[in-house]
Amino acid sequence: MPKKSSHGKSKYVSRTPDENGLIPYSRNENEIWHDLITRQIPMLQGRACKPWINAMHEMNFPKDRIPQLKDVSAVLMEHTGWSVAGVDALIPFTEFFGLLASKRFPVATFIRTREDFDYIQEPDVFHEVFGHTPPLTDHRFAAFVEAYGKAGLAADPKDHAMLARLFWFTVEFGLVNTDEGIRAYGSGIMSSPGELVYAVESDKPERLPFDPVEALRTPYRIDILQPVYFVIDSFDELFELAQSDLLGHIKEARRLGMHEPKFPPKPA
Ligand SMILES: [Fe+2]
Repeated sequence: MPKKSSHGKSKYVSRTPDENGLIPYSRNENEIWHDLITRQIPMLQGRACKPWINAMHEMNFPKDRIPQLKDVSAVLMEHTGWSVAGVDALIPFTEFFGLLASKRFPVATFIRTREDFDYIQEPDVFHEVFGHTPPLTDHRFAAFVEAYGKAGLAADPKDHAMLARLFWFTVEFGLVNTDEGIRAYGSGIMSSPGELVYAVESDKPERLPFDPVEALRTPYRIDILQPVYFVIDSFDELFELAQSDLLGHIKEARRLGMHEPKFPPKPA
């Protein structure tokens, strides 16, 4: 999404499936997946929300190799009719919105190198598959992402950056209230051990009750731990948001104007 703008270049190149729809990953690449997933799963307990953890078990990701897209799609299809589509590391907004509107989640198919093991700015297959696909088995979450894609297609291109903020503060970095306390559901948190602990446990970030217009008005930086998170009460809230007038929320956010950033400007 924001990371998937048409601007900028990535050092990574997505992998193309063979004639059977399979991507032949190397042993080294599969080992990187193994090391990422086996580090992250024990971190989820007490930090990821239960529906997310249950959904991850439902996805049944292999640990010893990078999952193939058609296997991921088969599980999603069974639950909500979604699938994943292999794409380049960076795709234009219109392609991104179009895929979501047709219930296909774009997935960059390369995996990070060892050099980028702890942090990668681009979305790699670990972020995309492990971080993003589990909640797409939930019909409420899935309905929101589909409605978001449709709103993106209908929106004026000048509002794409505004819409990117809504995605950022929900799908990428969303938190949720539970009986046990704040828990995470956003993919950017789930695929990062550092941000998972920080987002849920640190007293540094602000955690605001989710409000779509406020999320649209709040700037973010992709390369730092987030100073602000928005907290929903359950996926029901995202489902209700899917039925609401997303373009109307954008209009209201434009009328009210942007909030001041709570972070220093990105170094040049
Ligand atoms: Fe993402």
